[in-house]
Amino acid sequence: MGFSTEWEQQYASSNHLSRWPWSDLVSYVMRHARPTGSGFKVLEVGCGAGANIPFFLSLGVDYTAVDGSASTINNLKQAYPELQDALHVMDFSKELPAGKFDLIIDRGAITHNDTQGITSTIANIYASLTDQGKFIGIDWFSTRYSDFNNADACIEQVDEWTRTFNAKSRSFANLGNVHFSDKAHLETLFSDFTLSNLQHKIIEDGTGWELASYNFVADKK
Ligand SMILES: C[S@@+](CC[C@H](N)C(=O)[O-])C[C@H]1O[C@@H](n2cnc3c(N)ncnc32)[C@H](O)[C@@H]1O
Repeated sequence: MGFSTEWEQQYASSNHLSRWPWSDLVSYVMRHARPTGSGFKVLEVGCGAGANIPFFLSLGVDYTAVDGSASTINNLKQAYPELQDALHVMDFSKELPAGKFDLIIDRGAITHNDTQGITSTIANIYASLTDQGKFIGIDWFSTRYSDFNNADACIEQVDEWTRTFNAKSRSFANLGNVHFSDKAHLETLFSDFTLSNLQHKIIEDGTGWELASYNFVADKK
C-alpha cells in the first residue's frame, strides 16, 4: 500500500496549505547538513504545499521534490515556474527521481504510510543518496502520541504501527495511513543507516493530551 489518496482530496479542497518553512527542518539542515552551494542536490519527499521550498531556494541548492498529489504539484509549478522540471507527481514508496542526492529530507510525509510502504521508501532513499549523503527526518509520529492508543478514533489498525482515523482524532482525521514509531522501531527501519541527533519531542497540550514525534539524521552505513 502506498500513497493515501486522502491527501489529494485535502489539497483539492484547499486544506493543509502550510506555507512557512518548518523551524525544526531549518534547524536540522543548517546544523547537520548545511548545503555547500549550487551543485548541492536536495530531494524533498512529500513536499505538500511547498512550505520548505523558499528555504531551499534561498540557499541556492539544486532542489527536487515529489508528492503523490497532482493538485499540489500543479499548484507549485504555477507558483514556482523555475521548478517546472524539478517537481514530480510520484509515490515515493514506489520510485524516486533519477540521480543521486546529497540530502534527502522529509517533514511529516513518510510517516503517513504503512510499515511496508515506509520500508520500501527507506530502501529507495538509500539507493538515491550519495555515499556521504544524509537523510533528515522531521516529525515522525511517536507511539507516545495520544492518538496511537485512541480506540474511539481508530477506524482500522493497518499493521502493528499504522492506524487510520475518524473525525474523533484531534490531528489525523481523513488523512489515510498514520504510522507511529518508538526508538527501537526507528532503528529497525533504518538498520542500513546510522541514526544521530535523535530528538523525541513530546508536547502536552494542558489537558493531558500528548503530541509526540521524532526528529533525526540518518547516514548510510
Ligand atoms: C503532512 S503533509 C507534509 C507536507 C510537507 N512535507 C510539509 O512539511 O509541509 C504529508 C505529505 O506527504 C505526501 N505523501 C504521503 N505519502 C506519500 C507517498 N507514498 N508518495 C508521495 N507523497 C506522499 C502527501 O501527499 C502530503 O502532501
